[in-house]
Amino acid sequence: MPSRWPPAWRSRTTPILGAVVAVLAAGLAISWAPRVRKQARSVALLVSGDTAGWIAPCGCTSNQSGGLPRRGTYVEGIRRDRGVILVDAGGAPGGTSIYDRIKFEAILKGERLMGSAAHNLGGPEAAFGAETLREIRKATGAPFVSANLRDRAGRLVAEPLRTVVARDLRVALVGVLSTQFAREGLRIDEPRDAVLSALASAPPHDALVVLAYLPEAELRSLAAALPEADLVMGGPTGQSIAPTRVGTTWLASATNKGKFLVHMEALRPASRGDATWSGRVIEMSSEIPDRPAQMHNLSEFRAVLAERDLPADQTGLAPPLPVHRPAGYQVAGTESCRKCHSGDCQTWTESGHARAWRVLQAKGDHVDASCQSCHTTGFGLPGGFQSARRTQERTAVGCESCHGPSLAHARRPGVKTPFPAQHQCTSCHDAENSPQFAYEAYWHRIRHGATANPVSEELRR
Ligand code: HEC
Ligand code: HEC
Ligand code: HEC
Ligand code: HEC
Repeated sequence: MPSRWPPAWRSRTTPILGAVVAVLAAGLAISWAPRVRKQARSVALLVSGDTAGWIAPCGCTSNQSGGLPRRGTYVEGIRRDRGVILVDAGGAPGGTSIYDRIKFEAILKGERLMGSAAHNLGGPEAAFGAETLREIRKATGAPFVSANLRDRAGRLVAEPLRTVVARDLRVALVGVLSTQFAREGLRIDEPRDAVLSALASAPPHDALVVLAYLPEAELRSLAAALPEADLVMGGPTGQSIAPTRVGTTWLASATNKGKFLVHMEALRPASRGDATWSGRVIEMSSEIPDRPAQMHNLSEFRAVLAERDLPADQTGLAPPLPVHRPAGYQVAGTESCRKCHSGDCQTWTESGHARAWRVLQAKGDHVDASCQSCHTTGFGLPGGFQSARRTQERTAVGCESCHGPSLAHARRPGVKTPFPAQHQCTSCHDAENSPQFAYEAYWHRIRHGATANPVSEELRR
């Protein structure tokens, strides 16, 4: 087995990474290889889910997992020596704004490039509404499945069931989502009933896979109540669930921003009989290189964003405005602070915050609102950053990212700046983007203000 695994990327990695990959490969070999060699008709079912808009890791901190470019490489590596059925359990969009729709379509295109057989409609997909989902399917050719999502008129929004054949194994793929996602204009049938009625008219198949966008408790009870299913693959469950048996049914989930894949393997006797399944959860770690076709898809996504130049209020990422806004609640820009706070501005110019836009430009990510929201000044606030072309003077993390829209103060210093600055850090330095963040240590590196740079007497009034 080690001769077939690792896939091609090993030769391109450094010796240390190569060793890591070899160790991983040895792990895989122990669990699968001996049986794979005897039973040639082996098929892998690869399940992603809960991508939540994370088309690629942001790179704010090292060693982030996930992203379609790595998923693409992993899938191709497996395809080398066995049949692959690639599916998604749902939860790919990060919201329903125009921006989110563009990104969702890019994710679906990426999945198609990998040869996706089915994409289940989860809660975030359903939130777009039936009409928009039909448009998206038309635009992308995405293989949507859902046996229980219905429009206002009671028609199913997607095919209830798809069958695929890989190395002679006929697999029926059914999709369901939790009834808790029902809302105006969308009806959702009870998942188990929906699976059974989809099965009633299913063509002959060797295995039934249910893609289930259900919270963990519902996922477990569906698996327990569906001995008809060979596999129930779901999310979002907070943490991935490694493949486990519930009665005769296998249960697993790939969750958390697309950082994991569930890799199930169907081993079939050479002559006849049912497949036996086994599997594990695979982390899409930074050791897996990027797949060029997926990188190309990402640059096409960025090209669309660059062309659209969406203003912040079409991204779903702008913060809500306070109901009562004092006069002059407007971002004035870092340059307008300089004449009175030259020392603070100097400290700032030498800090990472002043560099925050340039690091986005370096990779072409400056057109992406999901990066802009933390790498600009006053994203979506009055007078703050609106879009890359509209508001170039509001790029980088300026004074007002922490002190708030301060036009009133810049005009009349007796008026206080609006935000308690020390409470703003974690809106950007969150667990995902800045896992090392600790206030004291970080503040120390950007320390400024009254004690460091007193404002000269003549500027006070
Ligand atoms: C016209 C001069 C002037 C300009 C322009 C100015 N400031 Fe000030 N700022 C002052 C003075 C004077 C004080 C000290 C006020 C005091 O001690 O009562 C001050 C105090 C502050 C404080 C501490 C008190 C508070 O309001 O929380 C912050 C923060 C601050 N400025 C931020 C800014 C920012 C951000 C800008 C640019 C948007 C800016 N200032 C522009 C003169 C100015
Ligand atoms: C939720 C806020 C947030 C979002 C969204 C965000 N970033 Fe960041 N980013 C940060 C923070 C905070 C840091 C600094 C982390 C640290 O040093 O602890 C950072 C650091 C970085 C760095 C490293 C900078 C350096 O000098 O080493 C890069 C590169 C980066 N981000 C790129 C991106 C890209 C690309 C995106 C969009 C895909 C993005 N960021 C989205 C908050 C964010
Ligand atoms: C609007 C988003 C945002 C807010 C609010 C924010 N940061 Fe940052 N911070 C960033 C980004 C983005 C980076 C990465 C910039 C880079 O290095 O390119 C960063 C980097 C840093 C760094 C590393 C760079 C350096 O200069 O050493 C420190 C330290 C830091 N932030 C401290 C803080 C503290 C303390 C607060 C709160 C008082 C805070 N930040 C609030 C976005 C933010
Ligand atoms: C990353 C967040 C952040 C950025 C960016 C930032 N500050 Fe501050 N600033 C703080 C924090 C935190 C304090 C500490 C006092 C507080 O909590 O208000 C502070 C304190 C100050 C004070 C003294 C306040 C006082 O009451 O003593 C002034 C003046 C000030 N900043 C001005 C500026 C100016 C001007 C800029 C832009 C050049 C700037 N700051 C950029 C977070 C920030």
